[in-house]
Amino acid sequence: MTDLVVYDASQVATPTDGGEMMTVKDGAVAIEDGVVTAIGPTEAVTRDHPPADATNAIDAAGKTVLPGFVDPHTHAVFAGDRADEYTAKLEGEDYQDILAEGGGILRTVRATRDASRTRLVENLLAQLDIMLAHGTTTAEVKSGYGLDIETEVKMLEAIDEAADQHPVDVVPTFMGAHAVPENTDADEYVDRVVEEQLPVVGENDLAEFCDVFCEEGVFSVEHSRRVLEAGREHGLKPKIHADEFERLGGSQLAADIEATSADHLLQSTEADIAALGEANVTPVLLPGTAFSLATDYADATAFEAADVPVAIATDFNPNCYSQSMEFAIDLACNGMRMAPATAIRSATVTAAKAISRTDGTGTLREGSPGDVVVADVPDYQHLPYNFGVQNVQTVIKDGEVVHRD
Ligand code: NIG
Ligand code: FE
Repeated sequence: MTDLVVYDASQVATPTDGGEMMTVKDGAVAIEDGVVTAIGPTEAVTRDHPPADATNAIDAAGKTVLPGFVDPHTHAVFAGDRADEYTAKLEGEDYQDILAEGGGILRTVRATRDASRTRLVENLLAQLDIMLAHGTTTAEVKSGYGLDIETEVKMLEAIDEAADQHPVDVVPTFMGAHAVPENTDADEYVDRVVEEQLPVVGENDLAEFCDVFCEEGVFSVEHSRRVLEAGREHGLKPKIHADEFERLGGSQLAADIEATSADHLLQSTEADIAALGEANVTPVLLPGTAFSLATDYADATAFEAADVPVAIATDFNPNCYSQSMEFAIDLACNGMRMAPATAIRSATVTAAKAISRTDGTGTLREGSPGDVVVADVPDYQHLPYNFGVQNVQTVIKDGEVVHRD
């Protein structure tokens, strides 16, 4: 029996596994047992899956049907906010100076240490609701506002607890090496991450990935290598915040250790991009961060020219306060000059690759997860064209309607 059929859509638009945009006019998608079983013209799909016989049927006349968005880089669990720092930055304060003075990440660390696990679960659930309303059906969430064993574990447990209660598929990442704690030496803190935190995270299976902030004044390339290699020994796949403000060599390290992804990459050179491509590291570009900090965007056209497909993500965190993959797509097009088809590919199939989801997540084809977005636009080009509003109307996860505006 068909769980769900979405029919009469003005357009069904999906990147294929290979990344090409495929469109079907007057299209439909059918889902059984949580998995896509048919996609094609409404006439053909509804012959085998009549809407009248389906458990649930959605008339998508005038609308576009897309795969659910995948957000492969967020710091969505934390306490407090930093709205006043955003105002200060608008008045000329610098992100790294704020951090060096004990604000920024360190301020969120203090608030997160003070919060109970229950509070963190509630906070994360509220953020996941907003992500879902904007079309995200799979999201990575990092720890990293603890910087001590108790709080890092508390964050990862909160991620696990929220994931159990929410339709969004949540992929946990351990990021104990997100900043150097106050009054601590970086070498000494890396020892703690490697010797104290990672064994506990690994033994208790609390995360799938390990990430590190490789940046001038934070963790060096050597620190980062140590953390990521130790993470791998504990079963965690490497990810890295690389070459954002300074070109320290994080991209080259990512290539060298064959990380799953390298993220930010504002300073990456052509040689860095080629190295990432050769090592099959997925680059993750974060246009919201550039927007929030009013810096230049990563050079998406250089990745495109080198034929290295990129993912995009929100980087949702207290410094980059947007949960919306729709907005990330808008910015990728406008700020990074991506074509709409490229931006949607980056927000779906390539984003899934950045978190090792290669089961068809991010595409609509027979056998892929039944994760679907219905947007109130006539075709996919209208998604970024109609920027700054919520076009996503209905969100389906594993064949269930989980959000409806
Ligand atoms: O990816 N760059 C480091 N980490 C985050 C920011 C976290 C924060 O400022 O709270 C990022 O942008
Ligand atoms: Fe980040």
